[in-house]
Amino acid sequence: MHNKKIMVSGIQPSNNITLGNYLGAIKPFVDLQDKYKMFVFIADLHAITNEFNPIALSKNKRNIACLYSACGLDLKKAIVFNQSDICSHNDLSHILLCHTTIGELKRMTQFKSKALTKNSNNTSFIKTGLLTYPILMAADILLYDADIVIVGADQKQHLELARNLAIRMNNKYGKMFIAPQPFILKNASRIMDLANVKVKMSKSNKDQKGVIYLLDDKETITKKIMEAKTDSLNKIKYDKKNQPEISNLLEIYAALSARDVNSIVKKYENKNYKVFKEDLAKIVVEKLSVIQKKFKQISKDFDKKIEPILKKNAKYCTVIVQKKTKLVYKKIGLIK
Ligand code: TYM
Repeated sequence: MHNKKIMVSGIQPSNNITLGNYLGAIKPFVDLQDKYKMFVFIADLHAITNEFNPIALSKNKRNIACLYSACGLDLKKAIVFNQSDICSHNDLSHILLCHTTIGELKRMTQFKSKALTKNSNNTSFIKTGLLTYPILMAADILLYDADIVIVGADQKQHLELARNLAIRMNNKYGKMFIAPQPFILKNASRIMDLANVKVKMSKSNKDQKGVIYLLDDKETITKKIMEAKTDSLNKIKYDKKNQPEISNLLEIYAALSARDVNSIVKKYENKNYKVFKEDLAKIVVEKLSVIQKKFKQISKDFDKKIEPILKKNAKYCTVIVQKKTKLVYKKIGLIK
């Protein structure tokens, strides 16, 4: 028996993992991997709720497994697996689906921002997977008795649904789930687009010049940071309301250098934005080049080293979740 608390989280496999994904999710996985028993998965079933290409999907699945490791997740400690290898995620998702209203799902900000456009509230042509996406997420979490879920701030509402579903099911049928707590960093949980601080840094942003990818080369990273939008005050201050752009850059700086924001503000007291950006670019380039170097190496060994771990972990997880699914089936009367 282990006595560590359990952490469950996943990331959609995409070729374009952003600095936001890293700072809001992967880095805290790595920082907390000794404290929690971690189930970290490749959310491939979530990835197909968007438009996708089968060849790219399977390549991206490999990439994210390698990136987890390249970013410092210890595959001997964290249990890394492919979501679609575990059939119970879908089984439980169906049961939870039958306990969730369409209203609850339509209220989700992410659904609204992805599905509804300024000119139309008509959802008839929206694929159902986009609507039911948070339920699959709840299943991912509840199957493993997660105590905490490390996510960026954009996933908070989905986590609330998972909690509500856990409590709802427990109240109706008797205790079967742990209600998970979201674990959202105070800083760096919502890294904003460098060119438009009103939107979060995301691969789906139309304009990509404010989005840094983990696999961007040195020149691209430097260019994106040097050209990051800033205000005309030219004063380095952490003030999210009045100086959101420089505050966003300060959060990135702080998270990557393991320093607190105030000490950085002090360091740049009489310096201008250009000097600050040059230093920040160096820090980001340095951090990402280490990750990229490891990524290249690990990718070569994927078949020999990573794939067998994913397979072994799938077997391990299957045993855990089948037990949970059986309990749920019993509680709701599907089996005796
Ligand atoms: P995904 O793949 O969109 O994002 C992965 C993680 O990165 C965080 N994140 C950010 N954090 C800070 N700043 C940003 N700009 C930023 N952009 C993204 C996200 O909050 C997330 O934590 N639905 C999830 C994947 C998932 C999941 C789960 C997570 C599926 N099942 C169960 C937790 C538990 C998603 O699409 O994340």
